[in-house]
Amino acid sequence: MIYLCASNMFDFESYFKTELEQLREEGRYRYFLNVNKSARHFPHFYYEKGGETKRAINFCSNDYLGMSVEEDVIGKLSYILHHSGTGSSGTRNISGTTQQHQSLENALAVWHQKEAALLFGGAYLANVTALQTIGRKIPDLIFISDERNHASIIEGMRAAGNAKKIFRHNDVAHLAEILSALPMDQPKMVVFESVYSMNGSVAPVKDMIQLAKKYNALTYVDEVHAIGLYGETGAGICEKDDLLKEVDLINGTLAKAVGVYGGYIAGNALIIDFIRSFGSGFIFTTSLPPAICAAAEKSIELIRHHHARRQYIGELVTYLRGLLDEYAISHTKNSSHITPVLIAEASRCKAIADRLLEGFGVYVQPVNYPTVPVGEECLRLIITAKHNREQIFHLVQSLKKVFLEEAAHHMQKEPTQSLAG
Ligand SMILES: Cc1ncc(COP(=O)(O)O)c(C=O)c1O
Repeated sequence: MIYLCASNMFDFESYFKTELEQLREEGRYRYFLNVNKSARHFPHFYYEKGGETKRAINFCSNDYLGMSVEEDVIGKLSYILHHSGTGSSGTRNISGTTQQHQSLENALAVWHQKEAALLFGGAYLANVTALQTIGRKIPDLIFISDERNHASIIEGMRAAGNAKKIFRHNDVAHLAEILSALPMDQPKMVVFESVYSMNGSVAPVKDMIQLAKKYNALTYVDEVHAIGLYGETGAGICEKDDLLKEVDLINGTLAKAVGVYGGYIAGNALIIDFIRSFGSGFIFTTSLPPAICAAAEKSIELIRHHHARRQYIGELVTYLRGLLDEYAISHTKNSSHITPVLIAEASRCKAIADRLLEGFGVYVQPVNYPTVPVGEECLRLIITAKHNREQIFHLVQSLKKVFLEEAAHHMQKEPTQSLAG
């Protein structure tokens, strides 16, 4: 479609409008709920509707361990905030490297049993910068990427502009096929996630790393949704499967289970120094506020010992899935903490989520394309260490009621349609 206005110029306004209208028609337009987050009442939160304050239970927060509301983490943040002020006021090179940045990077390196770590404004930026930097500096490098990789990984590889091969999701045999077809001396990097954010699948990390090593490929693992939850000290799937020494680069976030903000990569000192020295998305941006770094470090210090919370989440997820089965609500099977309920249609997904919030005080986010492929639209159910069984029972009952309401509504509509037809 060509968007031209009267003077034969590109009509930006009509282009933007048409694109947005199409999103609305497909039921994929993004509406944000204005959440009034509560440190005291999490997982409950408040929101305004029709001039009234309403309360709901959050079943889509990534604050898996409840660390964003942890007194000691809040306390640490407040303390350093009053000492250092709000922002760092500089890039890492221009007065933006503080004691708190260095201390957190050391703590992250120790946590992941790596020589070094590097902080970023978020794991998104860490993925984009790390992949773009390595790719651009080694133009012959081929990225070998899981088909379900996160948008930030895809953007990083795209920005690098290198050749790319895609393997079927978590398919080790397909990865082997791709690797074996490439020359041994071809630089290559295998890029994947350990826990996939939307379908909750867990990658066969050990097999993939072993295979990559056999073909002399670097390995890059995004552990964003595994950090805090898996492994003896919560360092992720690589810790759980004793692979911390094997993997070349780990990407993690400080914004989900750690409950604060920011992202990082961890690896050997040489590769981290390389990205520190050449990574545009690291060099040319203001560093994280010192108080954020101190709070994240405090949170990690606590997370390392939160075995009971990790176990509790596992028990609650088993309870949730048992209830879903009992109520005949089908859900995607996986071995992680993420429970997707497949809806398979964008507008239906949104309508169900709206009804759950308004009718039952249950907040789940509809996940639509492009976050998931068309046909895999789902409600992604997240249980945190702050939920309890009663709340989970309410979630499942509410879901069942909404599905029944939906079915009754369809039955009422069908005769009218056939008469009209
Ligand atoms: C798999 C994955 N990687 C990276 C990110 C980016 O993390 P951050 O929010 O720290 O930028 C996300 C965020 O949702 C994610 O799901």
